Amino acid sequence: MPPRFPTPFKVIAHRGASAYAPENTIPAYTHAQELGVVDVELDVQLSKDGVVVLYHDHTLLKKTGQPGRVRDHTASELLKMDIGTWFDRTHPEIEEKFSGTRLNTVDALFETFGNSFQYHIELKSDDEELVGLTLNHVSAHHLENNVRLTSFLFDQVMRARQQAPHIPTDLLVRDAARLRKEAGLAADAVLLPLQKTWVDRAADASLALVGFPAEDMTPELVQYAVSRGLEIRAWRIRGDEDMHRALEVGAYGMTTNWPDRLIRELLRHKRAGGS
Ligand code: G3P
Ligand code: CA
Repeated sequence: MPPRFPTPFKVIAHRGASAYAPENTIPAYTHAQELGVVDVELDVQLSKDGVVVLYHDHTLLKKTGQPGRVRDHTASELLKMDIGTWFDRTHPEIEEKFSGTRLNTVDALFETFGNSFQYHIELKSDDEELVGLTLNHVSAHHLENNVRLTSFLFDQVMRARQQAPHIPTDLLVRDAARLRKEAGLAADAVLLPLQKTWVDRAADASLALVGFPAEDMTPELVQYAVSRGLEIRAWRIRGDEDMHRALEVGAYGMTTNWPDRLIRELLRHKRAGGS
């Protein structure tokens, strides 16, 4: 019997369709749109002058060749930075070339795509003002019904709940190794009870969803999250194995760099009789 997927199952283009174009850039979201994706994920951080910029990493060097962090630069400096050259170097299999593709702002993303997407906005940095400034752009573009706020940072999640109780807020949970280390447990300590404490935190804070790395997900974890009234989705999909695992355990969706592969897989299961 093929797995029955929760409806609607969310195929979320991770940082846009980031296997095919530089992550968190307009071309990555354009590609996601061309693939027919409705849900996209993005990472937001604040520039030195308080502009909400799309960028994932803690530092700029690896992907832009520039020093420091997003917070160390003004928006006008950041928007000149090229992330396309890094992408071309690390994705030689992609025919289209992106050298010269620059970083962008959340405002430009919303301006370009408006309400054609559901945006999963990951609050990446711990700046207190990040939540409010991001919400200002959501309001300015009338996107209150098109966004969810997500974060690994519990303080940011709580700020999001307080400042935007009408917007679904999701907690991302770290991977097994990090959870055990932060809890002072041995590397082989039983994982489920620890994972449950994070599910409980999310449920007690009236969050909408918890996200776990695909490789750490089990049917028991999914069942527990659902019993606490939460949706549960997978992150860190490194390839087909993770994708299949997340599907098999009953995740409600996943972020993936290859949304086309996930869509194909879901159609295959549907043809085989799944929901
Ligand atoms: O779906 C959440 C996922 O984006 C978290 O991981 O490192 O890609 O931000 P990361
Ligand atoms: Ca992210």
